[in-house]
This record gives sequence, C-alpha cells and structure tokens, in this order.
Amino acid sequence: MNTMDTLAEVAAQVKVCEKCALHFSRKNAVPGEGPADSEIMFIGEGPGFYENEQGRPFVGQAGKFLEELLAEVNLKREQVFITNVVKCRPPGNRDPLPEELTACNGYLERQIEAIDPCIIVTLGRYSMAKFMPFARISEVHGRATWVNGRLIVPMYHPAAALHQPSLKTTVVQDFKKLPAAIEQARKDGHKKADQEAPDTRQEPKPPEDTSQQLSLF
Ligand code: URA
Ligand code: SF4
Repeated sequence: MNTMDTLAEVAAQVKVCEKCALHFSRKNAVPGEGPADSEIMFIGEGPGFYENEQGRPFVGQAGKFLEELLAEVNLKREQVFITNVVKCRPPGNRDPLPEELTACNGYLERQIEAIDPCIIVTLGRYSMAKFMPFARISEVHGRATWVNGRLIVPMYHPAAALHQPSLKTTVVQDFKKLPAAIEQARKDGHKKADQEAPDTRQEPKPPEDTSQQLSLF
C-alpha cells in the first residue's frame, strides 16, 4: 500500500476506533494531518477542546503558537505532518493514561512507518517518552538525538510555554535550532545507528515535578 493509502486507512480506523475508553467521551477523533511525503513530523500529546470539536490537530491556542514557531523557521503547517500520541481527547484535558497510550500507539507507529520522516519533533513529555523513555525534558529539550536512524528533537509543549513566559523564550530558542537539525537529518538520516546521548538512557529517573505542565490546553 502506498503512503497516502496507509494514512487514509489509519485515519478511517481512528475515526471509529473503540480500543480505549477515550472513545466514550470524544466528539471527533483526531488522526493527524499533513503531506504523505513530509520530511518532518510533529507529535503532540492529545486533542484539546477545539481539536475534539473539529477533528484536526493543533487548531486551538497551542496550534496558533505552533504555527508562529514554524513561521520563525520558514515552515508552514501544510508542509509538515502533525499528530498526537493519543488521537482522542482526554476528558478535561487530563494527561493520557498508560493504557490509552498503549492502545493508541499502533496508529502512530503506522503513521511514522508510512511517512518515514527523517526528523521527528516531539511536543511535550508524552511524545518524548515514546522515543527517550528515561530522558528529562528539562535536560534534553532542543537537543537533537539519533534514535534508530531518525533524528528526534524533544521540545517543550507549546501550550506549556504559553502558560509560562520563561518556557516560551526557551521554546522559541529551541525552534531556532530546527533548520540545522533538519539539514543534519537530511544528510545523515536513516544511516545512523542508535546513538542517543548516554545520559538519556543510563538509568531510570523518577519523573520530574510536572505540575507546571498540567492543564496544557
Ligand atoms: N495539544 C496537543 O498536544 N495536541 C493537539 O492536537 C492540540 C493541543
Ligand atoms: Fe482508539 Fe486512540 Fe481514540 Fe483510544 S485514543 S479510542 S486507542 S483512537
């Protein structure tokens, strides 16, 4: 199956999925959107209020900020694939539960495999944890890391940054490093072995205090 067909099939399955309890409260599942041949993929956490209303990712306040960040590096949202680790809105925008992340993971896996981007930008802790389970966002944000031949760039979630002026500056600065990372990914992507910084995997650390990142939407 070609990439477009695979993405359409995943989207169709997501729209009617009942694999986790989030389907009870959702209005619209949000599969994600973007060109099938995107070199770069953005993975957020989960749909918020407006995303649930419209069935599209990052269309609320966080989405507006994401578009501004993209514009800073001469990217338009139409040029990148944007999705989330869970495709249905957690009630009240609570954090996704482990079983919801597990249930939904297969859709994201198929999207990544089909698009095969050379670089993935993770937005927030949950999408970062998929690739760098033991990393701390406060230590690795903005730092491009090879994971299985793909460059992963963990960023703070734009919604967290909106609520915290100091984080906003950090996210803006981290985004400015993207063009160089994209260049590096184009050059060396799909060739590198797993080479992430040892401090991200050495030993499990307890989760940092994430209270500032709650109520993201
Ligand atoms: N926040 C996310 O993580 N994803 C969205 O789609 C919107 C807001
Ligand atoms: Fe299915 Fe994912 Fe929605 Fe759960 S969040 S119902 S697994 S599409």
